[in-house]
Amino acid sequence: MDNKFFITTPIYYVNDAPHIGSAYPTLAADVIARFHKLKKEKTFFLTGTDEHGAKIAQAATSHNQSPKAYADKISEKFKNAWKLLNIDYSRFIRTTDEDHIKTAQSFLEKLYNKGFIDPKPKLYKGLYCIGHERFMQPDELINGLCPDHKTKPIQHSEENYFFKLSKFQSRLTELIESEAVKIRPEKRKNETLGRLKEGLEDISISRAHLTWGIPLPFNPKHTSYVWIEALINYYTYGKPLGIWPADVHIVGKDILWFHAIVWPAMLLAIEEQLPKQIFVHGFFTIDGQKMSKTIGNVITPASIVESFGVDGARYLFLTAFPFGEDGDISLKKFEEKYNADLANGLGNLVSRLTKLIETHKPIYEKSAIDDFSPHVKDAFLRFQLDEALTRIWIQIKTLDRKLNEWEPWKKTGIERASNWIELTSGIRQVAYDLQPFLPETAEKILSQFSGVIIAQEPLFPRI
Ligand code: MSP
Repeated sequence: MDNKFFITTPIYYVNDAPHIGSAYPTLAADVIARFHKLKKEKTFFLTGTDEHGAKIAQAATSHNQSPKAYADKISEKFKNAWKLLNIDYSRFIRTTDEDHIKTAQSFLEKLYNKGFIDPKPKLYKGLYCIGHERFMQPDELINGLCPDHKTKPIQHSEENYFFKLSKFQSRLTELIESEAVKIRPEKRKNETLGRLKEGLEDISISRAHLTWGIPLPFNPKHTSYVWIEALINYYTYGKPLGIWPADVHIVGKDILWFHAIVWPAMLLAIEEQLPKQIFVHGFFTIDGQKMSKTIGNVITPASIVESFGVDGARYLFLTAFPFGEDGDISLKKFEEKYNADLANGLGNLVSRLTKLIETHKPIYEKSAIDDFSPHVKDAFLRFQLDEALTRIWIQIKTLDRKLNEWEPWKKTGIERASNWIELTSGIRQVAYDLQPFLPETAEKILSQFSGVIIAQEPLFPRI
């Protein structure tokens, strides 16, 4: 398909309700998708939930529910959270969806028929962390515990099927070096190449005793390892629509290995096209601490929306730190930034301008604004969302300064008209550029500055 843009987020585990950690990449993907939509590209934005595996089975048991009933409940919470944040996805995929189960099985069948899965399972022993849903190497553990989940990995010992990942080392290296699969930021590309240099081992792709999973087509007594079928979700959606390959997978740095190595190898094995880009974002802490239930600092998307409004929440997340880096979030800083940038900055400028225009009724021609500013566009194409916002705020400050310096209501003739033209087209350009980030606010400003201009309620009441 020509002129298409297909973007994905990770699909989130449904062991627990969504927190702002999962909201972050979803929000970033939404902003990027909205930008491409406004550029009139056929845009497809996929998000969803990862519902099989030991982690979900365990969470369901502890809530005395069947895994499916539990997944139904939690995936609904994700949908509600995305609605609150004004996330405009094209599809919310669930790995328990019928079409996904079928696609995952036919993908696995192809891997098997093409000889990339050993025909016979073999005994596999390893340390498995259910929190991560992956095997861990002994040197990753601290005092025998997973450093992230503070739990002891289980001793896994069973007959598993293996995917011949080792066969793909040199092709993957070549494809990543040549940027046929582009990995950004650059340091993540280097990290991936470094890991490839260490060599690849075949990986276990099945579970012999876990029933909460997709049965392997070539031996239904075994189920698929949750990560293998989860990666296929992108293909379940993209392939039938004719939009495969993905233009970009947005992923956290914790899941880079699966996306940059395992997933492309699976696609190479079935002779499919590879994702064009993998953009890797960092992790944030809350006031310097990891967000965790034990610490009691888990923040929900709903609480942020309640405090700062939808667009306030969207703005604060994306300006907290550069997309692609690690960062820290502090509610205190959120509050200060909300007041400084939104209430006093953008909100105040819009209300001053509309009041002045309502009072002085200047006569001037309106210019057409139908594209993004070049520097905003440029930042978007590099996924530098915070940079795009910084650029827009420079523009807001410039307009504010010009309004103060010019005092166009005191002027007459051509100078008066040209001052008003510059200020009003400036604010409309700001609103145009803001559309992907703050959709509701941008729409309000654009409609306030079309037709008869009358002062309205403040866009962002001070906190
Ligand atoms: N289910 C897998 C992904 C499968 S994709 C085929 C998974 N799910 S997850 O729910 O544990 O996490 C998904 C993503 O949430 C992470 O990769 C990351 O993008 C995001 N984040 C979770 N906590 C986060 C922070 N504290 N900070 C930033 N992003 C965070 O892994």
